[in-house]
Amino acid sequence: MCGIFGYLGSRQASNILLDGLRRLEYRGYDSTGIAVKDETIQIYKKVGKVGDLETILPSQIDGTVGIAHTRWATHGVVSDANAHPHRSANGKVVIVHNGIIENTRQLRTSLTVQGVELQSDTDSEALAHVIERELSVDNNPENAVRRTLHLARGTWGLCVLFLEYDMIVCARNGSPLIIGQGDGEMFVSSDPHALTPYTQRVVFLEDGEMATLTKNQMSLSTIKGKNFDPSITVLEDDWGESELGEYPHFMLKEIYEQPDALRHCISGRLDRVRGNGRLGGLKLEPRDLAKVPHVRLLGCGTAFNAAEIGQMLIEKLARIPAVAHISSEFRHNDPVINPNALHFAVTQSGETADTLSAVKEIQLKGGSVYGVVNVVGSSIARECGKGVYIHSGPEQAVASTKAFSNMVAALSMFALQVGRSRATSKEQGKDLINGLQQIPHLIEEYLENQGPILEAVEMIKDAKCVLFLGRGISAPVAKEGALKLMEIAYIPCLAYPAGEMKHGPIALLEEGSPVVFIAPNDHVKVKTISAMHECKARGARIILIHEEGDDIASEADISIPVPQVHSLLSPLLTVIPTQLIAYHTALALGCNVDRPRNLAKSVTVE
Ligand code: F6R
Repeated sequence: MCGIFGYLGSRQASNILLDGLRRLEYRGYDSTGIAVKDETIQIYKKVGKVGDLETILPSQIDGTVGIAHTRWATHGVVSDANAHPHRSANGKVVIVHNGIIENTRQLRTSLTVQGVELQSDTDSEALAHVIERELSVDNNPENAVRRTLHLARGTWGLCVLFLEYDMIVCARNGSPLIIGQGDGEMFVSSDPHALTPYTQRVVFLEDGEMATLTKNQMSLSTIKGKNFDPSITVLEDDWGESELGEYPHFMLKEIYEQPDALRHCISGRLDRVRGNGRLGGLKLEPRDLAKVPHVRLLGCGTAFNAAEIGQMLIEKLARIPAVAHISSEFRHNDPVINPNALHFAVTQSGETADTLSAVKEIQLKGGSVYGVVNVVGSSIARECGKGVYIHSGPEQAVASTKAFSNMVAALSMFALQVGRSRATSKEQGKDLINGLQQIPHLIEEYLENQGPILEAVEMIKDAKCVLFLGRGISAPVAKEGALKLMEIAYIPCLAYPAGEMKHGPIALLEEGSPVVFIAPNDHVKVKTISAMHECKARGARIILIHEEGDDIASEADISIPVPQVHSLLSPLLTVIPTQLIAYHTALALGCNVDRPRNLAKSVTVE
């Protein structure tokens, strides 16, 4: 979604801003722009990719201070005029803004009455004009921004550039902003990943905070005007390259990174001798765990699918009632929160607004939440203050793959640890640990020999609709497979627990309809086979993902075997062919695999 990058220092700003924008590209956007201050503030903005913006830039842009933005349209169509940065009427104030200004109509009306002509349809532009007006009161940029934000309602990650001052004023409320401290230079971004090539020393602004940056100094204050000292975080080097390397797409690279990602996730977190998990982030004593009444897991999209698997693992291993909730629904249903319950917020980016709101709802009602998060220092990780990082390394393709696997692995370790203090025996624990430790190698084995993925692609690429079915722990895998194919190949897909098929979706089946079955060799396989027969009897063609050596293979039109594994961990194997099917179908249909239309990597609006 929208991204911000800013720079102040002694180097030419434009190249650094463009580099920052490229690092934000993976989040998804529809237009970009930069503003660089010298004698004037020059603004260049354009619909399309960063590459499109570069085509309109002069060969040299002088200036050592600037701000840049990637926009994902919310208010106003995708157009050059609506792209950020936005400038005030006298050209002396320029802003980039992430988030939504809810009372924009009111602000625009009052500006129009004062004779200001707004140039865009965005909710953001009004802020530039109000800051200009407030600046004329006392010529104090920081106070002008502060007073403006007192008039605004909504969310913001905001950076403001002033023609007459060598500074950037930033503010955060509900939309992340991180300041990077260099040597005689300062950076600011909505995404820590964009800062790490320049500095590891960062300050995460919290909601209601502001920063005034000059090239040598940052001064921090609350929006109410209270000054405070910066608390510097030194970012650790993440594993994994954020460059493509030898791969044609980030999605393929990230599918292939799953074995290593899983090794990073489980490393040091399993106690083989005691058959237990060793997750430091679960700050609960066994006697507290024994009293947990229920568990709730929250997530969106892929994270929700992983949470559903977590739910099943927790119920199975710990014998505690567990439910996965879609974050965007959670707070609006006025949920009853039991402070003794365990809550998990599952999220790759750690910035998903819906999940963040759900976390706040739980906290407001006296509960506490564990984060199961990939991006270190992200808003949800900090809001929860406890939990685990899943250590997937940077995930850049919009379609999530390796983060899904690591969420499932992290939740399986949670389930084990809670389970060992309640219902799971040491031997069962050791078994699961064995299984987890084998997974990276088994995925590698499968990736060496992927089966007839391209035949499956031929079968589905022109289909009107693809049905994905699985039972038990494979039902969320079916959902994940459908989500992946739909989001990157734009084929309508439905996913159901296989037993539900006969209660409705069966009506869709006609001669040749493709149905993808996920049927590992577990206790519900026989039931899944019945559903498969029902589909075949109506002319459907079956793509079957199953375990190697299982004679169920003969039932399928296309059979894709994966290595055998502990039955509770089968999603970590069965999901891989679904990722590959989605990837190759998108390629066959000429879709933009890494940046599917309309989607954003990090969804920071509700
Ligand atoms: C699908 C996908 C999305 C995200 C969802 C939540 O491939 O990536 O469905 O899973 O937007 O994002 P996070 O995990 O960042 O909270």
